[in-house]
Amino acid sequence: MAVEADLQHLPRIERSAAQAFQGRDVPAFLLTHASPAEAWRPQLEAGTLWVSEADGALLAFLAATADGDRLHIDEVDVDQPAQGRGLGRRLMAHAIGWAMKRGLAQVTLTTFRNVPWNGPFYASLGFMEDDRLPALQEILRAEAEKGLSDRCAMVKPL
Ligand SMILES: CC(C)(COP(=O)(O)OP(=O)(O)OC[C@H]1O[C@@H](n2cnc3c(N)ncnc32)[C@H](O)[C@@H]1OP(=O)(O)O)[C@@H](O)C(=O)NCCC(=O)NCCS
Repeated sequence: MAVEADLQHLPRIERSAAQAFQGRDVPAFLLTHASPAEAWRPQLEAGTLWVSEADGALLAFLAATADGDRLHIDEVDVDQPAQGRGLGRRLMAHAIGWAMKRGLAQVTLTTFRNVPWNGPFYASLGFMEDDRLPALQEILRAEAEKGLSDRCAMVKPL
């Protein structure tokens, strides 16, 4: 679980992770924009912000929000040099395990359709594309307003 001192490192990780989108059909602002550290305080306080570290350095984080019987993955980012070493999968498994332990019914997220590793990664964790939940439709609408198109919602029933 993350602690207060971790918050300041999250924008750096988000920006670094996004470099994986270079050359992909995603809005250019994603490569330079990162959410402010304070954006993740609600998840920190709710106990649904998790980090991975190695040799004293923070390398990845996952922020999620519990909403009724659902855990929504708000963000998962791995520092670019550390990608592909299993950190993202481990953070996702941890969040899913957290939701299962609390008897939640599903884990949800939104992701890019046209980023080739996104859908298959989440599908390998048991997520299926499903845009039916009104709360997810609302998130997709808000993302589209910010310029994020070609997004889909995915749901993992527990
Ligand atoms: C997507 C992300 C969270 C996955 O975490 P990770 O630690 O790099 O991934 P893992 O090592 O746990 O591997 C997960 C799977 O995704 C695949 N993958 C991850 N990043 C990839 C990339 N850039 N290109 C191709 N495949 C990729 C891996 O091959 C792996 O598949 P496998 O387990 O079948 O071998 C991380 O790569 C990341 O931050 N990417 C940039 C930002 C992003 O895409 N965020 C998610 C937006 S919804």
